[in-house]
Amino acid sequence: MIRAEHLQKTYNVKVGKGFIREKQQVKAVKDISMQIEKGKIVGLLGINGAGKTTTIKMLTTLLSPTSGSYFMDDIDAIKHPIEIKKRINMIAGGERMIYWRLTAYENLWYYGQIYNVPNIVLKKRIEELLKLVGLEEKQNVPVETFSKGMKQRLQIARGLINDPEYLFLDEPTIGLDAVVSKELRKHIKYLAQEKNKGILLTSHYMSEIEELCDYIYIMSDGTLIKQGTTKELAANTFNRKNYVLKLYEHNNDIMVCLADRLKVFDSTINVTEDSEGFHISSQENISLELSKACAAEALFIKEMYEKEPRLEDTILQLAKEA
Ligand SMILES: Nc1ncnc2c1ncn2[C@@H]1O[C@H](COP(=O)(O)OP(=O)(O)OP(=O)(O)O)[C@@H](O)[C@H]1O
Ligand SMILES: [Mg+2]
Repeated sequence: MIRAEHLQKTYNVKVGKGFIREKQQVKAVKDISMQIEKGKIVGLLGINGAGKTTTIKMLTTLLSPTSGSYFMDDIDAIKHPIEIKKRINMIAGGERMIYWRLTAYENLWYYGQIYNVPNIVLKKRIEELLKLVGLEEKQNVPVETFSKGMKQRLQIARGLINDPEYLFLDEPTIGLDAVVSKELRKHIKYLAQEKNKGILLTSHYMSEIEELCDYIYIMSDGTLIKQGTTKELAANTFNRKNYVLKLYEHNNDIMVCLADRLKVFDSTINVTEDSEGFHISSQENISLELSKACAAEALFIKEMYEKEPRLEDTILQLAKEA
């Protein structure tokens, strides 16, 4: 298990031009404590600049923390970063960490050598990984001729070359087409569930996080503001009931009429409409009052159900509050 406690990172930056350059400190991560268990996928969320990449860089020993402690299976990661590096790998969105002049095969061979993977094992692993990311036919082509998505697929293969125990994924599906992203999500699940890898994932695609993550940490301005399972987070944040109401024929002003009738029971009622139907949000259980209000307005209900808040709404609300 990975245990990080009270990690902090302050960057020293120089601002200004020429001789009048001033030193400034940027507190990118102020206080982060988190755990990643083997066999689980943990999500790290937050708006741009929240400190996610800085956190991942500390957890992958690319950056040393300004303070805090970090253990991986009881190895002190700050004292023994080389031991940690052997057991982990990272896949980031973008086109870094691959050599453009080399072919896809040569890139993977090169990284396999860095991790001291024995040649026989490496040969078989490269074949499997090229198949996984659909680059078998392009394996002998220099990477400089690859499209953005093909380079990203190669990044994924590179990140798995040392068969890491823990995997850090920083926006791994950025720039991938729908088919390859779906394959990758399937593989991420397989790695956690069948191969017992511990995985940390950041993504701005909430559906990806909802589909994959067992547990979620939400960051804002360098600190954790919420953590829990998807369900827990949505329930804790909103603490409200959300109903969807579908009606047979109705007048345009019915939304206001329903809201007025329901406000008698709960003054915080909010009624909106989209292609799914009317959305009614309230503090209380108002299903009975809602049916009565429809009857009073002579409306015929086609369908009515309670709906869980989406993770995307949770993040937006937390970002607003922070
Ligand atoms: N090398 C650096 N030097 C100085 N400041 C930095 C450096 N890297 C990041 N920062 C600052 O640290 C803060 C956190 O940045 P970080 O890249 O960790 O955010 P993030 O959550 O990954 O954002 P995004 O969603 O945009 O990827 C930002 O204010 C950023 O400007
Ligand atoms: Mg980032």
